[in-house]
Amino acid sequence: MSVNKEIKRITTNTLVKMKATGEKISMLTAYDFSFARIIDEAGIDIILVGDSASNVMAGHETTLPITLDQMIYHAQSVVRGVKRSLIVVDLPFGTYQGNSIEALSSAIRIMKETGAHAIKLEGGEEVVESIKRIISSGVPVMGHLGLTPQSIYKFGTYQVRAREEEEASRLKADAKLLEEAGCFGIVLEKIPAQLAKEVSESISIPTIGIGAGKYCDGQVLVMHDMLGINHEFKPRFLRQYLNLYELVNGAVKEYIEDVKQQRFPDETEQY
Ligand code: KIV
Repeated sequence: MSVNKEIKRITTNTLVKMKATGEKISMLTAYDFSFARIIDEAGIDIILVGDSASNVMAGHETTLPITLDQMIYHAQSVVRGVKRSLIVVDLPFGTYQGNSIEALSSAIRIMKETGAHAIKLEGGEEVVESIKRIISSGVPVMGHLGLTPQSIYKFGTYQVRAREEEEASRLKADAKLLEEAGCFGIVLEKIPAQLAKEVSESISIPTIGIGAGKYCDGQVLVMHDMLGINHEFKPRFLRQYLNLYELVNGAVKEYIEDVKQQRFPDETEQY
């Protein structure tokens, strides 16, 4: 008897159904083949090739410097490691804000050159035209509201957004606009939990929160933060599941000592 090893892929439709049935959606970032394979095999629903690669992979202070070519490189590596998860790729800063034709050509490059399944971009009303144009070409789009790191120099800080009524109302209106434009989901970053609840209940597409509380339809974290690779970063919303910095640091120290003391390699580790 042959065992059916066919893997059922997560699609944008799966996510909308998950919201409808109340099943929470799990999402993590990844930027390379090896980690993408581990988290895909662990069963993550969505892998985001985030422009946070600019911070955690390249060591920049913000997400602004990363280029479309660099995002494509990361996405290509992730795609090779993934069999089941939906792969979403961030459009980096400066590749979609100019006009909707530029946005479409950036989205098309990502889809053609990487094999990923969808793109994500930041913003509300100001990017709706671009979102519609991208979706009309057949590319699924995820929105991103609240703290949008590509606008960090406009905000001036990484503090919680939309605490005031005016910004909260704008965010709720933007979420509706993104839903009407055809987005299949929206990331809500660093906003009050109550506001995220209202938004999540007011739209039929899933909300994926990061620092936006427990009422979102799903949660996303930057993988390097939740694994404790990035050990200095400890915001309130982050649950660290591992201290990989200490584990790797400890293993490397042990290896150095073994080499210095001539304990590595031994007879069983040579030819
Ligand atoms: O780039 C990224 O990692 C993101 C998440 C914070 C949602 O956009």
